Amino acid sequence: MTTPRRPLLAGNWKMHGTRAEALSLVEGLLGRLQGQLASGTREVLVAPPFTALDAVARLAAGTSLRVAAQNCFHEARGAYTGEISPAMIADLGVSHVILGHSERREIFGEDDAQIRRKLEAALAQGLGVILCVGETLAQRDGGHTVAVVEGQTRAALEGLALARPDQVTLAYEPIWAIGTGRVASPAQAQEVHAALRACVGRLGQPAKQMRILYGGSVKPDNVDGLMAQADIDGALVGGASLEVEAFARIVEFEA
Ligand code: 13P
Repeated sequence: MTTPRRPLLAGNWKMHGTRAEALSLVEGLLGRLQGQLASGTREVLVAPPFTALDAVARLAAGTSLRVAAQNCFHEARGAYTGEISPAMIADLGVSHVILGHSERREIFGEDDAQIRRKLEAALAQGLGVILCVGETLAQRDGGHTVAVVEGQTRAALEGLALARPDQVTLAYEPIWAIGTGRVASPAQAQEVHAALRACVGRLGQPAKQMRILYGGSVKPDNVDGLMAQADIDGALVGGASLEVEAFARIVEFEA
């Protein structure tokens, strides 16, 4: 089956790594994935912490490895102690930003309205956005999964004018599967991805072209089954993206 959606394998490093550790990981990946990166059949992205972003972006420059920030603020500049603007991120040669991660929503209280403001600011700066949505275990057990992720998606994308379909990538990350070793089954993930794609279409966005990643305990031993699903276009990987061999095997998924 041919799909217009090039697979995207993304590593979210979260709050891990000194600059030296980050550089060593990226050097390892660039070496190990040289052929894959040159072929361009799959897109590979890493999201280091802010402190390593400049160093990693310099190392990745001139390669097809993409680099993302893990968050940004919605204002361009001003008295916002501790915040980083989309323009500052773009200034580093960084191409993407992850927004709406459940850790931002749950631990730092980010709501749909804030995430929408950040999304618009990032797009205006020319950054690609990986927008995360996902339900808690209680919401899943209550049968609310699709309603929850559709609500998050609608809040982010309704009425948004996209210049290109690849400006936004969705990432479905069930909260109960993040960092728990408890991965959604391929069928469970596919069901939500199909619902999300239909929702994106109803919102007037380019549903066939927009990529939807799965995230939550993706590992070398479960990536193949997930990537075999029709509506799973890639993975957003936490823990397993911190090791060269594990992440490389995920990039080299067989579906
Ligand atoms: P894990 O792969 O460690 O479960 O993390 C998933 C995640 O939150 C990626 O953004």
